[in-house]
Amino acid sequence: MANVRICMIGAGRVGKLHSGTLRRHVPGGDVVALVDPFERVLNETGDQFEIERRYTSLEAALDATTFDAVVITTPTPTHRDLAVLAAENGKHVFLEKPMALTLAECDDIITATTNNNVVLQMGFMRRFDPDFAAAWERIQAGEIGEPMIIKSLTHGPGLPPAWATDLKTSNGNLAEVNSHDLDTTRWMAASAPLRMYVEVANFKGAERGVTSEHYYDNMFATVKFESGAMASISGVCPCDYGYDSRVEIVGKKGIIQIGELKGESIVVCVDRDHGLVTPIFRRWPDRFRWGYIRELEHFVDCIRHERAPIVGGEDGRWAVAMVLAGTRSFLEERPVYLQEVMSDY
Ligand SMILES: NC(=O)c1ccc[n+]([C@@H]2O[C@H](COP(=O)([O-])OP(=O)(O)OC[C@H]3O[C@@H](n4cnc5c(N)ncnc54)[C@H](O)[C@@H]3O)[C@@H](O)[C@H]2O)c1
Repeated sequence: MANVRICMIGAGRVGKLHSGTLRRHVPGGDVVALVDPFERVLNETGDQFEIERRYTSLEAALDATTFDAVVITTPTPTHRDLAVLAAENGKHVFLEKPMALTLAECDDIITATTNNNVVLQMGFMRRFDPDFAAAWERIQAGEIGEPMIIKSLTHGPGLPPAWATDLKTSNGNLAEVNSHDLDTTRWMAASAPLRMYVEVANFKGAERGVTSEHYYDNMFATVKFESGAMASISGVCPCDYGYDSRVEIVGKKGIIQIGELKGESIVVCVDRDHGLVTPIFRRWPDRFRWGYIRELEHFVDCIRHERAPIVGGEDGRWAVAMVLAGTRSFLEERPVYLQEVMSDY
């Protein structure tokens, strides 16, 4: 079976991560080209991962070279146009979260990929993390009974890139950091979200020089699902202390916890007065190493075996709808029904 030839679009933080993952861990996927309009980053990432064919636009790559699929790791406002152009040229699409800024953009992406019969997979790597996947399988098997309360948190160590701290270009941390929790809680609840209430706060923005309107670095959301289940989601970024992602699901019969505060399972001792030191994960690539590998293996397998991915456009669209409802909730200081944002765009 032929390998899948992949053009990487975006050579920044996640572009580097996925290029390295494909090169080292996914033998069925060949990275054949790299696109980034920012030439310094294009060449730095191209050199690092030995990607010879480099272009400053997707249009130039389409004109000059042959490939089967794209992996899109660019800022959110570019997702719609890049995904639609790739799909219209018959390329399979792996798209980083958040899917887009608006539901109309999500619909354009879903329509283009469906009409052109190409795979669309969203970059929700937690679906592929061994711990998250095992928890979901146990819930499916009925071990803890029907989920009643889900608590999910993501705390990231540092500020994201500048475009991601501006609500206008990113939809803020709800989208940039907590998209993963929005997807996880809906996945674990196995139900559509009904209503959200969100509070935000800005504790460190001024000292870090972030001046964009409505910027927040702390977020707390409550979600009610149609099943009756409830979720709480907390987001803190920058939290400074490390990368922290944990979930607790309380069912009618029992409880499942995913993740823990400590990272690598080593214990260090250099001083009996300081005692034992247990590391925390430093960054998201460390915590979700296996999720990032397995999601790209899955993308390549879906293309080679003509299967639909386990996490696709509708999942991306739901997460964007929850971002929009949550944002409206804190701006208008009230609970917001998902129906309000889904019928009003
Ligand atoms: N799954 C995860 O865990 C995770 C983690 C962080 C970020 N992300 C997502 O990945 C995406 C990228 O984030 P990042 O942190 O790598 O951003 P980044 O700013 O580090 O990198 C983005 C790159 O895209 C390039 N770019 C901009 N417009 C482009 C275009 N039209 N064509 C090609 N390249 C273009 C930029 O020059 C930059 O090099 C975002 O959607 C973000 O939300 C996902």
